[in-house]
Order: sequence, then C-alpha cells, then structure tokens
Amino acid sequence: MSPFMQRKRFLSWLAWGSFGQLIALVTGCSKKSSEPQGFAKFASILEVEEAKGAILRDYFAKDPILLVQDPNDKTQYRAINATCTHQKCIINWNGDRQAFVCPCHGSTFGADGKVLQGPAKEALQTFPTQVKEKDIYVKV
Ligand code: FES
Repeated sequence: MSPFMQRKRFLSWLAWGSFGQLIALVTGCSKKSSEPQGFAKFASILEVEEAKGAILRDYFAKDPILLVQDPNDKTQYRAINATCTHQKCIINWNGDRQAFVCPCHGSTFGADGKVLQGPAKEALQTFPTQVKEKDIYVKV
C-alpha cells in the first residue's frame, strides 16, 4: 500500500472514530441530564395537579403504582404499590381523608403506606420519588 493510501485510510478511520464519539457523547449526556440515576419519569407536576393530586399508572412497573402529592409537604410526592395487601384489590386515594382506601373491604392506609384500618395487616409498598424541574420521577 502506498503512503498516500495509508494516510487516506488513517484519516478516514480518524473521521469515523470522531463521529462515533460525538454520537455517544450526545446520546449519553441527554439521558443523564434529564433523569435522576435509577429513576424513571412518572408524570409531570401539571398532570398530577390536573388529576386532583393522584395518578395511577398500571404500566409503569410490575404492579400498578399510585402517585400522590404528599399531604404534609405539597412540594413532594409519594409513590406506592396500589395493590392492597389484604386480597389484592386496587386501592384509591381519598383526598378528603388524606388516605389510601381499598374499595373491596375498606382497609385504609396513610400517605406513608402504613395500615390505619384493617382488615389489611401489612403496609403498602412505597417507592422513592424525586422532583426535578417540572417532572416527578419514581424508582421501582
Ligand atoms: S382487598 Fe383491600 S381490604 Fe380486602
């Protein structure tokens, strides 16, 4: 191979390598800058407000997740597994009572997921949340 061809091949290799690094940099940075590590976007703050403080998603994780505005700190949110620990009905958020209520047998849980009234004996599973800019993220 002539020196000219070697140089041309080297420059071509260099150009493609730089292009690949640029793509990796752009795609890698865009995800990291928008989502807290280990969390996924659940909803926007506006969506929660429009839903009167509670949103249920049945596709976000293995079990349905119910996200509510924290009654003690309106800038924070709580995410719980919406499956009742008694006999697996899907619970609702009662904003007037500031509690999760099961429509099947009346078990009631506090915003922290703890049992306030049976027949359920176990607390609801909770998940960490984070607010970043105008969005709410949940780690499942
Ligand atoms: S299934 Fe929820 S109280 Fe029975």
